[in-house]
Amino acid sequence: MDNESSQNRLLIKNGTVVNEEDVTEEDIYIEDGIIKQMGNNLIIPGGTRVIDARGKYILPGGIDPHTHLDFEFMGTRTVDNFYSGTKAAIAGGTTMIIDFVFPKKGESLLDAYYEYRQKADGKACCDYAFHVCLSHWSEQVKRDMEILTKEHGVNSFKMFMAYDFMLNDSELYSAFEQCQNLGAIAQVHAENGSIIAKNAQRLLARGITGPEGHEMSRPEEVEAEAVNRACVIAKQVNCPLYVVHVMSKSATEALYSHSGSTKVFGETLAAALGTDGSHYRHECFQHSAGHVLSPPLRPDPSTPLALMNYLAQDVLQLIGSDNCTFNKAQKEMGKNNFTKIPNGVNGLEDRMSVVWEKGVQTGIISPSRFVAITSTNAAKIFNLYPRKGCIAVGSDADIVIWNAGATRTISAQTHHQAVDFNIFEGMTCHGVAEYVIVSGRVCLDDGQLRVVEGYGHFVDTPVFAPFVYNPDEMDSLKPIKINDVNDFDLMEKTHKIKLV
Ligand code: URP
Ligand code: ZN
Ligand code: ZN
Ligand code: ZN
Repeated sequence: MDNESSQNRLLIKNGTVVNEEDVTEEDIYIEDGIIKQMGNNLIIPGGTRVIDARGKYILPGGIDPHTHLDFEFMGTRTVDNFYSGTKAAIAGGTTMIIDFVFPKKGESLLDAYYEYRQKADGKACCDYAFHVCLSHWSEQVKRDMEILTKEHGVNSFKMFMAYDFMLNDSELYSAFEQCQNLGAIAQVHAENGSIIAKNAQRLLARGITGPEGHEMSRPEEVEAEAVNRACVIAKQVNCPLYVVHVMSKSATEALYSHSGSTKVFGETLAAALGTDGSHYRHECFQHSAGHVLSPPLRPDPSTPLALMNYLAQDVLQLIGSDNCTFNKAQKEMGKNNFTKIPNGVNGLEDRMSVVWEKGVQTGIISPSRFVAITSTNAAKIFNLYPRKGCIAVGSDADIVIWNAGATRTISAQTHHQAVDFNIFEGMTCHGVAEYVIVSGRVCLDDGQLRVVEGYGHFVDTPVFAPFVYNPDEMDSLKPIKINDVNDFDLMEKTHKIKLV
């Protein structure tokens, strides 16, 4: 078997293929990064590398819809960049990320976009796309949004309702209106920033300076109020709304109460399922500050299970990591004032295992629902489907061979991320990625990580995603089941790609 053919031709045999809509026993033949055939008794060229996946699940590679790599935030910069972050992602079974371009207040959206392309291009080990944050509102921002959607493959914009770069209601209204005009998706960080600022002042004045103050200043209702307000504003302009990092029961309920009249999507985080807000009272500062993110983890111990159930019931649709990592020394910037602790936690590497453990292993969700919330729904919402988010002929060969019988124990000592802390420390998870195939290349090979820096590409996310703007059109995008590789016409039509 020569090396070159083993790189671009691959057969995965005897596995159980899990898609959102079905589970099948099929072999998968991959060539040049694309799934070319699926079925049994496939006829394949000699010299093809064969991986035996007997007894294993074959899953679409995870898509993490929420990461912050190489991100300058709260006076410092995340320790994980596009290399270490995507390397770790692959180790855990994630084959695509969608990161946030963050313009500094007043900076042009386009300049920020180019800056992020420079940070990621040539570094990322897996494919990536971008959401773009609006850190202020102006007519120029409005024009830049149009250019980003028309010329740069961006179809989502994040607005903040907290932090000193938050938008007010009338600015949110205008931003949502522009998203709707362009066929983009509006994303919100939903917390009432004005209430948080007042609460924080009062707590500091009372001498509460530690990480517990972070959570105390941002209680659930402050999140739920903002979710409700964002939904009301989105409804006025008929704009589809995606609420990022939904962290509480009351915020989910607020979101759900609008689902009958507005197109709303809710994303929660691996952090919210795998740990909780009790850690803010831990005596060790590195430990408690290591859990600081916004909105915070909730002290209500029933929250993680409730969020898992909401994912099972399609009240929430996706799970991200919000990976935004800072080391001990950086977290110590807030040693005497919780408002200065850089906000963010890990999760990019462990998201898949945490969801499997809390969802599938417990029997709350099926493997198919696991695929939906970790991959397919992100692909559909951000208009990457069926190129990404499913295992089908014509799709990118982003595939995980998943051993549900194996376990691993998460630790900062052994993880692949650059950060020195792990919020899931000591958690034993069933479900281990054994092989991870990224665009046809075996990047995790029987547990051995063999990534290539810069192997990933920027992927355009076109506007007017059918799943968001025209659900009736989704039927025509359904992956087709054919073993006949000569039926190129049908494949080109269905997958909107050119097969060679
Ligand atoms: O605490 C968080 N979530 N840090 C990342 C920035 C954001 O708001 O997503
Ligand atoms: Zn946020
Ligand atoms: Zn500690
Ligand atoms: Zn975030």
